[in-house]
Amino acid sequence: MNVIEAIKKKRAVRHFTEEKIPDDVVFVILDAGRRAQSSKNTQPWEFIAIQEKETLEALSHMGKYASHVKDAALAIALISEPGTDFDMGQAAAYMQLAAMEYGIGSCLVAIYEPEDAKKLLGVPDDRDFKIAIDFGYPAEQEKQPTTGKGRKVFDQVVHWEKW
Ligand SMILES: Cc1cc2nc3c(=O)[nH]c(=O)nc-3n(C[C@H](O)[C@H](O)[C@H](O)COP(=O)(O)O)c2cc1C
Repeated sequence: MNVIEAIKKKRAVRHFTEEKIPDDVVFVILDAGRRAQSSKNTQPWEFIAIQEKETLEALSHMGKYASHVKDAALAIALISEPGTDFDMGQAAAYMQLAAMEYGIGSCLVAIYEPEDAKKLLGVPDDRDFKIAIDFGYPAEQEKQPTTGKGRKVFDQVVHWEKW
């Protein structure tokens, strides 16, 4: 998929089919995160790929809006050095756009119970776990025209030269 087309089509997908994501595609998605840019090239991330149903179910209780994780084929926990949220956003975007190449939808998930979530995955104390991304092939209802808010119009967002 063309990059511009992927950016335009990118929407949060929270309903998934039961189809498994092939291992080589899981690898490509993870590798896209590894290849993201970061401040001073610090690469302050490590990723945990989760495909076991039991762990996906447990993770779905770690956020206020995380229930869809239980039905995902894959979740990736973004484990970070503290104070690197902007860098992690870069890795997240790369992974989500890479997934689109394969027709795979995804959604970011804010972790509201970071201590419990870190314990669940065995994450060291000195790392943050603030965001996970769940992935899967979009279920039929995700293919309907969106009733969401969409995006602000261009002129509402963009200024030229000065505010
Ligand atoms: C930092 C961040 C955290 C988010 N956390 C959640 C979340 O916990 N659960 C969820 O279902 N969606 C979450 N989202 C997805 C947003 O709700 C979604 O991208 C936004 O509503 C726009 O939806 P659209 O891309 O489908 O238009 C998050 C997005 C971002 C950027």
